[in-house]
Amino acid sequence: MTRKILVTSALPYANGSIHLGHMLEHIQTDIWARFQKMRGHQCVSVCADDTHGTPIMLRAQKEGISPEEFIAATREEHLNDFQDFLVEYDNYHSTHSDECRELSEYIYNELKAKDYIDQRSIKQLFDPEKEMFLPDRFVKGTCPKCKTEDQYGDNCESCGATYSPAELINPKSAVSGATPVEKESEHYFFKLPEFEEMLKTWTRQDHVQEQIANKLDEWFEAGLQQWDISRDAPYFGFEIPGAPNKYFYVWVDAPIGYMASFKNLCERRDDLDFDEFWNEDSDAEVHHFIGKDIVYFHTLFWPAMLEGAGFRKPTKVHAHGFLNVNNQKMSKSRGTFTKARTYLNHFKPEYLRYYLASKLNNRIDDYDLNLEDFVQKNNADLVNKYINIGSRVANFISKKFDGKLGADCSEHPLIKEFQEAAETIAEHYENKQYHHAIRLIMSLADKANVYINDEAPWVLAKDEEQAAKVQEISTISLNCFRMLTIFLKPVLPEVAKEVEAYFQIEPLQWSDAQTVLADHEVSRKKPTIQRIDNKQVEAMIEESKAEAEAEAAPQLADPIKDEIEFGDFEKIDLRIAKIAKAEHVEGADKLLRLQLDLGGVTKQVFAGIKSAYKPEDLEGKLTVMVANLKPRKMKFGMSEGMVLAAGPGGEDLWVLHPDDGAEPGMRVK
Ligand code: MSP
Ligand code: ZN
Repeated sequence: MTRKILVTSALPYANGSIHLGHMLEHIQTDIWARFQKMRGHQCVSVCADDTHGTPIMLRAQKEGISPEEFIAATREEHLNDFQDFLVEYDNYHSTHSDECRELSEYIYNELKAKDYIDQRSIKQLFDPEKEMFLPDRFVKGTCPKCKTEDQYGDNCESCGATYSPAELINPKSAVSGATPVEKESEHYFFKLPEFEEMLKTWTRQDHVQEQIANKLDEWFEAGLQQWDISRDAPYFGFEIPGAPNKYFYVWVDAPIGYMASFKNLCERRDDLDFDEFWNEDSDAEVHHFIGKDIVYFHTLFWPAMLEGAGFRKPTKVHAHGFLNVNNQKMSKSRGTFTKARTYLNHFKPEYLRYYLASKLNNRIDDYDLNLEDFVQKNNADLVNKYINIGSRVANFISKKFDGKLGADCSEHPLIKEFQEAAETIAEHYENKQYHHAIRLIMSLADKANVYINDEAPWVLAKDEEQAAKVQEISTISLNCFRMLTIFLKPVLPEVAKEVEAYFQIEPLQWSDAQTVLADHEVSRKKPTIQRIDNKQVEAMIEESKAEAEAEAAPQLADPIKDEIEFGDFEKIDLRIAKIAKAEHVEGADKLLRLQLDLGGVTKQVFAGIKSAYKPEDLEGKLTVMVANLKPRKMKFGMSEGMVLAAGPGGEDLWVLHPDDGAEPGMRVK
């Protein structure tokens, strides 16, 4: 039976780079999706950037760009990271999209029509200077319990106490430094408690892992609360229909982003139908892969919203634990908070994919990336065991048999054993027990190597009469190698491509494990996998450290551009110029037309200093100009240089008035 399967990873926030912790999730998802595709199912995997909320709005402000520009740049970066990690999404969209807005409004309107939305006034901390309500994380102050200073508004990092930001001693806005005041405003609430019975049943129907179901029981016992789904302007997000200046809280439209990304894909794929996947009675599967920190959103709010709005609920929410490095939380100062890109600067993606696959299971316990083990395991398994099988016999085939494999070997017990393992390995992938899959695959690789050792084709190769035997051994070994490649393909897609090219065959599917290659010509180019070493790890750690330090260093709001060589600077010909004439420009708000006397030569320059100077005040003054700027045709005429001026803008903008003694035309030194 062909299944229809939609797979998602949690949508990364658009306010930061992808790091190895994120990669654990995207690799787990990608392996599962690639596996399903190889099995011949209609499997589609989508993701998107999660773009809304206060932190992103403030971050864009700080960088002096619009939030739209900011999230577009981040999306580009994220997309490249995933692609280079061989994480293959059928669509990578954005929550700041038409599809997401439409679906968010639709779902909200449905919930409202069915009386699942409440409305009441609440008090919150407000920044009187910035004129905005402050999320908990944007209030800092002294912990009311242990009196540690400089703690966030939701909990204390020193004693672990949780509290509301209003309880902080001496609270300050992290945005402006102002003392926040309490202010009332109208908020909208989703009536989660109305879904309690449905959720209690749903969570016991194998839609979540057992560990999660137990956690949910605790939450049910504590009692479900209404969920505040609105935020006041200024906020970067979607305005709530019928509620001017009220925005959906980022976590409302974030999971809707899954649907939106899929919908956007449906628009360009004839074989996909949105309703077929999302209707209440859909027989398609929806699988969300997430980290354990966001279980509440995915197993309570999200199914309840979907149910309330008349959509189907997820088939399964797959939660995973967090990634630690060398048994500790990823740390910037230790250089173990490694960005996806930084890793890629030192290693091919498949080493991490393989290492994580060898550990990933279906539980929510944390994982450890032990960097020494990472090097050893890849060398031992991928190089010494797996790829070595091909290397050990490929030369016999190419040199002695013109690249031709021998006769059908499907009756050989080793081949049979590999074929029989295929379904067990598939079950392990299906159940997210990748570590079991990898262990079984490597035990098969061991067997293939033992077989080659025992048969010792290099000895037989010396005896012409044994040629047929050598070809047979090589054929069996290479067929084992091909089957191992099928089993590893969800994890190692690029290696698999190389192997496919070597065998000169179509992309391998899971069912291909039940066939063998016989009387078939292979290419002369053997697939390879490079050995890795600890030096590469050290270099990656150093780079991660340096990046963290650079980020922590003070930065200008308007960052300094890339360095130029002294030679580039020297090319700029700065001259003292006398402003011979200054006049208004018809139709230009900011520009003045200046005639600049360089002592004999006069140049016309349009300068954007009208807000600061009256033309008559400028005439006769000296200034500094870039004299060798290539003339540019502007709307109002040729501009043949640039006047240097500095200041915050408006009336506060100054051209230089060099000291007495300066003469027009003098070079500025
Ligand atoms: N934007 C929300 C998710 C919205 S989904 C509708 C979010 N973003 S996040 O960028 O903070 O995290 C994205 C995913 O990465 C989450 O599933 C999170 O659990 C996971 N991880 C973040 N750090 C991680 C580790 N160190 N280890 C493993 N997963 C980690 O939450
Ligand atoms: Zn405390």
